[in-house]
Amino acid sequence: MNNNAPGGGGRFSPEIGRSGGQNHHGDASPSFRQQSGYEQHQFWFRRKTLGGNSSASNEQSSSQDWKSQLRLPQADTRYKTEDVTATKGNEFEDYFLKHDLLMGIYEKGFEKPSRIQEESIPIALTGSDILARAKSGTGKTAAFCIPALEKIDQDNNVIQAVILVPTRELALQTSQVCKELGKHLNIQVMVTTGGTSLKDDIMRLHQPVHLLVGTPGRILDLAKKGICKLEDCAMLVMDEADKLLSSDFQPSVEQLIDFMPANRQILMFSATFPVTIKEFKDKYLRRPCVINLMDELTLKGITQFYAFVEERQKVHCLNTLFSKLQINQSIIFCNSFKRVELLAKKITELGYSCFYIHARMLQDHRNRVFHDFRNGACRNLVCTDLFTRGIDIQAVNVVINFDFPKNSETYLHRVGRSGRFGHLGLAVNLITYEDRFNMYSIEQELGTEIKQIPSSIDQNIYCR
Ligand SMILES: Nc1ncnc2c1ncn2[C@@H]1O[C@H](COP(=O)(O)OP(=O)(O)OP(=O)(O)O)[C@@H](O)[C@H]1O
Ligand SMILES: [Mg+2]
Repeated sequence: MNNNAPGGGGRFSPEIGRSGGQNHHGDASPSFRQQSGYEQHQFWFRRKTLGGNSSASNEQSSSQDWKSQLRLPQADTRYKTEDVTATKGNEFEDYFLKHDLLMGIYEKGFEKPSRIQEESIPIALTGSDILARAKSGTGKTAAFCIPALEKIDQDNNVIQAVILVPTRELALQTSQVCKELGKHLNIQVMVTTGGTSLKDDIMRLHQPVHLLVGTPGRILDLAKKGICKLEDCAMLVMDEADKLLSSDFQPSVEQLIDFMPANRQILMFSATFPVTIKEFKDKYLRRPCVINLMDELTLKGITQFYAFVEERQKVHCLNTLFSKLQINQSIIFCNSFKRVELLAKKITELGYSCFYIHARMLQDHRNRVFHDFRNGACRNLVCTDLFTRGIDIQAVNVVINFDFPKNSETYLHRVGRSGRFGHLGLAVNLITYEDRFNMYSIEQELGTEIKQIPSSIDQNIYCR
């Protein structure tokens, strides 16, 4: 296969992520500095010895025994900003979660809850409805998956929780998180989205399913056919809730809620909540707990630049960025699927490896691109807004708006694809004459500054 073909496979070359600029044909290499198993063990050892000498410490030391058996992943020791470090100091143990769930959490590499997890998990466990807003990449997924997994009774073979998301790729990613966090539990997680065989889903639903993750249209289809039974579903999570309330999705979401019991709990999460969601909130949420962790809107770890260009100079400008920037992995956004395909072709002609993805592609192909890009098979991904929300690829340190987005919500979600979990990242916007007012109004709405790109960019601001 041609390594350079858009959407094709690529090689993995570990040295590239650390070299200056981007080699032609270079593939991605998530270049995290990793901690040894010994250091991991020391981490638990330190916590164990901090317990003191009372009887409580005996209890603690016995409770710590199981921890020494955990198979922890290597720690990600990159620099993190206050977006994730400024917590209240809770521990996951504080929430009295099932032991097997705690094991899954720690084995996923989560040491302590992030702020949104500290706020949401205890409240969700009480059964209260929640409307929660927190910045991109600060851990909203686990903030709803952990209480969902905790509340599910694995001996009761009915669907007890549904997680709705707006895109198929996000559904796959979220179901994977549920499976990983719940890997020591006996909870059956099923993912169901459009673009896959309905028949397969029907067959699967004849087996036990406790937690269903999917896109609204397909779940509604299955519910209407009486195959997907939601009368015992006590929890509905709406991730990217504002997107799920856009005209494309809201009617399906409301019909789905009608299949659920009257006392179901609803958890709504997003980084953006335009005022238009108020009507839905007032109609369906019962005295919800409103959590808003966005005192400022943009991530502290992301530096935003613009380059003023003419439309015909954009590819040349991108070429310059590729040669100058220290890109670990990048996501490049265009405003239409046609422009995605054209740009991917141009990038390939320039000699850089790139994949592309958009909603008009066959689902199998989409899945392959998503999977391979996540695994570092290619350094650059060109896409439409299909990948704007929720997609979590830790190795992405650069986002490029080849086409500038139309509104501030889209801008915020797009740039949030880098700088995941408080890490550093760069957002570069190619701005044409026509975009200039839009950029100004997005800066105003987000209360942020997009600076003119300097001739050289200090690597410390996006590679630490
Ligand atoms: N407590 C934690 N400790 C360490 N890493 C965490 C923790 N919680 C989440 N993460 C990691 O942070 C990354 C971002 O999490 P997540 O995708 O849930 O963010 P998000 O808030 O949903 O972002 P978005 O608004 O873009 O959807 C993931 O890679 C996840 O594994
Ligand atoms: Mg998310």
